[in-house]
Amino acid sequence: MTAELTDEDLLRMDRLPMADDRGEGYAILRAAGPVVRSDAGYLVTTRELAEHVFKHPGTFSSQQAFDTLGSPVPLVPIAFDPPDHTRYRRLLQPFFTPRAAASLEQAVRDQVTALVDAVAGRGSCDVVAELARPVPAAVFLTLFGMPARDLDRLLTWREVIIQMADLSGTAEAPPEVTRSAGELFAYVSAHVAECRAGRAGGLLRDLFDDDSADEPLTDQEAVGLCFLFVLAGIDSVTNALSLMFAKLATRPELRRRLAGDPAAIPAAIEEMLRIDPANAVVPRVATRDVVLDGVHIPAGSPVGVAVGAANRDPGELADPDAFDPGREYNNLTWGSGPHRCLGVHLARTELRVVLEEWHRRIPEYELAPGARPQVVWPTGVIGIDSVPLVFPAG
Ligand code: HEM
Repeated sequence: MTAELTDEDLLRMDRLPMADDRGEGYAILRAAGPVVRSDAGYLVTTRELAEHVFKHPGTFSSQQAFDTLGSPVPLVPIAFDPPDHTRYRRLLQPFFTPRAAASLEQAVRDQVTALVDAVAGRGSCDVVAELARPVPAAVFLTLFGMPARDLDRLLTWREVIIQMADLSGTAEAPPEVTRSAGELFAYVSAHVAECRAGRAGGLLRDLFDDDSADEPLTDQEAVGLCFLFVLAGIDSVTNALSLMFAKLATRPELRRRLAGDPAAIPAAIEEMLRIDPANAVVPRVATRDVVLDGVHIPAGSPVGVAVGAANRDPGELADPDAFDPGREYNNLTWGSGPHRCLGVHLARTELRVVLEEWHRRIPEYELAPGARPQVVWPTGVIGIDSVPLVFPAG
């Protein structure tokens, strides 16, 4: 038997109380059922259904799921389904192994240390503007062999891409967004041409030079890859760090533990990612009529995996709303199935190095007086624009 939901059942995403604390918002989502019909489409809220959606790309496709991001070229590899997607993953996998991430660690640490040193003597900073945004952008430049001096330009373009992502599919982009998107497109295209000609190094050059590939990457695919990495590789880390610092600033016990015992940092990171993931909802589109947990989902419907709700599934975890950094749980924040985060090892390295270096230099800190960091909501990816901190200067 299938249950058709009526309009009265439509859950309004903007009414979820997500701004201050996601716990209540995710509880409302979970209470609404394993499959929720919302004004943003269908949402699955349990671990089991989340895994099911992630692992059935034939039914829950990524092909049109990212169209709202407004990229001028398809995003490689996230907006592809198998078998095209499988080809991209095969090409990219060797560059994202744990060993590849480890080889970048010293460069990440140097960048992080310079940024932490720059604020440590001052006694206050906005940790988002001064650390969470520049660190992953600098790592992106290193990975793609682009000059470090382009950091400011890249950060401006990142803002533009994020604005594009916030536009609904129907809204027309403002002229400055279109202009900046054009500049970014030209910059990335020029870099692709330089790599093709053997005049620049980095990830794309290595991909172009890889003779073992049956079907090497085309220029357009390389541009789509760069665009995705600005979104997936920079924005996710920035947002995750913003959420983490907002949490740590109000939890003196936890941050003292991390400062005193850096070995505790990786588990604390995973637990912070579980309980408050930046990617609150990961999108898919149903390719055919399908019934999930008794709910009929028509072909063409958006189906989102509510990662934040599924990460707190009481059928999977004892006391799922409690923050327990000692917990070992394979959270869904990195996704699952064929699209599981390609950059997971690099991302973990970035997050760990930031928390290590920050707490080594600045173990004591708190929110600046009057600061009340809130996430912007509703959106698929949540983050906090500004987290002002104060600490003893030194
Ligand atoms: C805290 C940081 C990050 C989080 C939480 C995160 C999360 C995710 C998730 C959930 C997906 C799957 C999306 C889907 O199923 O549609 C994904 C895909 C991806 N991520 Fe990450 N990510 C992070 C950082 C990074 C970094 C640093 C990079 C690269 C340097 C990266 C590269 C990618 C790529 C290329 C994909 C697409 C994989 C595919 O489609 O096969 N991510 N990420």
